[in-house]
Amino acid sequence: MPLQKSLAVLEKQGPWGLIDVDIDKPGPGEVLIRVESTALNPVDWKVQVYGVFVNEYPAILGTDSAGVVVEVGEGVTNLAVGDRVFHQGWFTNRLATFKQFTISAAEIVAKIPDNITFDQAASIPVGLGATFIGLYGKLNVRGAGLVAPWQDGGLGKYAGQPIVVFGGSTSVGQYVLQFAKLSGFSPIITTASPRNAGLVKSLGATHFIDRSTPPDDIISEVKKITGDPFEIVYDAVAEESTQNVAYDILSPGGILVLVLPSNVDKSKITPTKRIVTTSGTVHNEDNRELGVQLYSKLSDYLASGDLKPNRTETIPGGLSGIPNGLKRLQNNEVSGIKLTAHPHETK
Ligand SMILES: NC(=O)c1ccc[n+]([C@@H]2O[C@H](COP(=O)([O-])OP(=O)(O)OC[C@H]3O[C@@H](n4cnc5c(N)ncnc54)[C@H](OP(=O)(O)O)[C@@H]3O)[C@@H](O)[C@H]2O)c1
Repeated sequence: MPLQKSLAVLEKQGPWGLIDVDIDKPGPGEVLIRVESTALNPVDWKVQVYGVFVNEYPAILGTDSAGVVVEVGEGVTNLAVGDRVFHQGWFTNRLATFKQFTISAAEIVAKIPDNITFDQAASIPVGLGATFIGLYGKLNVRGAGLVAPWQDGGLGKYAGQPIVVFGGSTSVGQYVLQFAKLSGFSPIITTASPRNAGLVKSLGATHFIDRSTPPDDIISEVKKITGDPFEIVYDAVAEESTQNVAYDILSPGGILVLVLPSNVDKSKITPTKRIVTTSGTVHNEDNRELGVQLYSKLSDYLASGDLKPNRTETIPGGLSGIPNGLKRLQNNEVSGIKLTAHPHETK
């Protein structure tokens, strides 16, 4: 069996290392993809530092991929060899994306339109996963249960309803803003650093609030923008401080979507305000069907400009550059941009 380079956490909470592994064969319904670009996510450094989510080591990580289909398994009809594609991987050595070749079920792979580069496409799956499951995933099963814009009556369905998105310049937040716009929400209010005010407005935010504004002032600024109830608040930062302000803004009957487990002050929790922590993976069976629907639409959303990828920065050295890139994410040194790496440029 031919070998490929991959980047793995060598042992639980241990160092990163390059290892040679087999290039897998696609099974029925699967495709083999030559990974041209893979994106870095905070979860990758969290797995390495905290030893969470994976049990088998060495553990190849990475779950954002864009590349070219090089082999199709039995029964695959939606993809062919040579297609430029992107998809969300998973934390098993077979499905992870910090590798030169990876496997995916074809039903959750989207074609890349001509106006989008491999790096741009690689910036999408994980951030978008947290977005679509958080907003449209089954109610109380990682999602707020809204009707998705690609479903019957979903486009513009929430016209006139406000939404607040904490962290509009995060990778996740950028996709939440764009889907909030497709869903019709208005106003769309978001927090970020002033340097990213233009970015978040270009993605659909109608109102920008400086993230350094004191919590009480954020609440009063939001309430000055509209007196309507806030039935959906999405916290794409989900630090204790943002979660508590987000919960205070939420109206009774509303849903707060978090990207991390709840840290809302227990003394203020009331049954009338629900909290869901999203799990933004299309591999989660609960929301798989929704993911399959979305992946069949993504190419059109990108071609039309309704969905814009994150801005990207490619780190040098291929897979070998990833550990330094993840350190930058861990140290909060990345702003409004997705880091990507090219596995075939590995030194
Ligand atoms: N549950 C899931 O399935 C899931 C999926 C994906 C990500 N996540 C989690 O979601 C979080 C975001 O991930 P990501 O990849 O989107 O992050 P990211 O793009 O790497 O986040 C960097 C951004 O965070 C913003 N930020 C930091 N603190 C902020 C604050 N207090 N208020 C507003 N913005 C703030 C910065 O904004 P400025 O530069 O504008 O200041 C910066 O642009 C991470 O904790 C990640 O682990 C969860």
